[in-house]
Amino acid sequence: MTATSFEHQFGREQPNAATRLTVLGPSPRPVSPYEAASRLTDDVFARLAGIVHRETGIVLPASKRNMVVSRLSRRLRALGLNDFAEYCRLLESVEGKSERKALVSAITTNVTSFFREPHHFVTLSNVVPDLAKKARFGGRVRIWSAACATGQEAYSIAVQILERWPDAIHFDVKILATDIDPEAIETARQGIYDDSLVSDAPRSLRRHLVRGPVPNTVAIGDLPRKLVRFEELNLLGPWPFRGHFDVIFCRNVVIYFDATTRSHLWERLSNRLVPGGWLFVGHSETIDRSTRIGLVPAGVTQYRRRVERQEHPFGPASDDVLDMEPPN
Ligand SMILES: C[S@@+](CC[C@H](N)C(=O)[O-])C[C@H]1O[C@@H](n2cnc3c(N)ncnc32)[C@H](O)[C@@H]1O
Repeated sequence: MTATSFEHQFGREQPNAATRLTVLGPSPRPVSPYEAASRLTDDVFARLAGIVHRETGIVLPASKRNMVVSRLSRRLRALGLNDFAEYCRLLESVEGKSERKALVSAITTNVTSFFREPHHFVTLSNVVPDLAKKARFGGRVRIWSAACATGQEAYSIAVQILERWPDAIHFDVKILATDIDPEAIETARQGIYDDSLVSDAPRSLRRHLVRGPVPNTVAIGDLPRKLVRFEELNLLGPWPFRGHFDVIFCRNVVIYFDATTRSHLWERLSNRLVPGGWLFVGHSETIDRSTRIGLVPAGVTQYRRRVERQEHPFGPASDDVLDMEPPN
């Protein structure tokens, strides 16, 4: 980075310690970790962005520099490190495994809400009778909330299912909800939310909320919880299961990926849908024709897996996605 752009982003650079000693006498205070962290050179930023890309698929352009500094300065302070170069060395080392997880939690954006993009839940509601029929005939129903963040998406799916199919928990129906961020998954598992997050919740959700363990919180009730299983999973890594899903929600995550990563993920997801299965994507995400392998548009930001001749919509899948291989 040039001196001018550094100054533009972080203010005027301070004279170094030696200069200060001659000009001003002893340094009045040590350089704070935040200041040290702010001195993020182009090289080190590129190294850090490379680590984040390798770990998550998330692309960090130069415009995210200030965001990176503000989110990671806390990590530097907690670890007692002086600058980002030291931080990169830690992340690249064998001992850096747990810090790589902390990095993921710090860098990912977990913004979400209950019943976000409501039109998907209207479609889901119309699909539920087909899913219930499949289950009543002994079939298995599997839904995936891929990149579920803190769980609101998965619980909204559960509530929507229960709304149309109140005895769903007596059948083989499960929502697998995954995210790369271990802290988000922990929050999702706890299922406890601030009152303010449900202030305008629909009645279908409110009837499944109970009082939370601390004032001004609510907790998700037993029925929706029974339908959901939360797991940590990097969408870009190997998937530890073989089966297929009837419905996949993969929303507002590929926006952080590059075009190649995005289209590869769409293809993998398409291959994990049963014939006629549904894929819901985020409001600013579209799957263009060239990468729409096996998918047919079926409404605003929603697609269906093509049904080939001799296939039955929502036909049985041999392997169960819940039979996961243990992490290595
Ligand atoms: C903006 S939230 C979207 C949450 C929810 N799907 C929604 O639309 O409300 C994006 C989530 O994607 C997760 N994420 C980012 N990269 C990921 C990856 N490689 N694998 C799995 N999840 C990832 C983040 O941790 C974050 O929780």
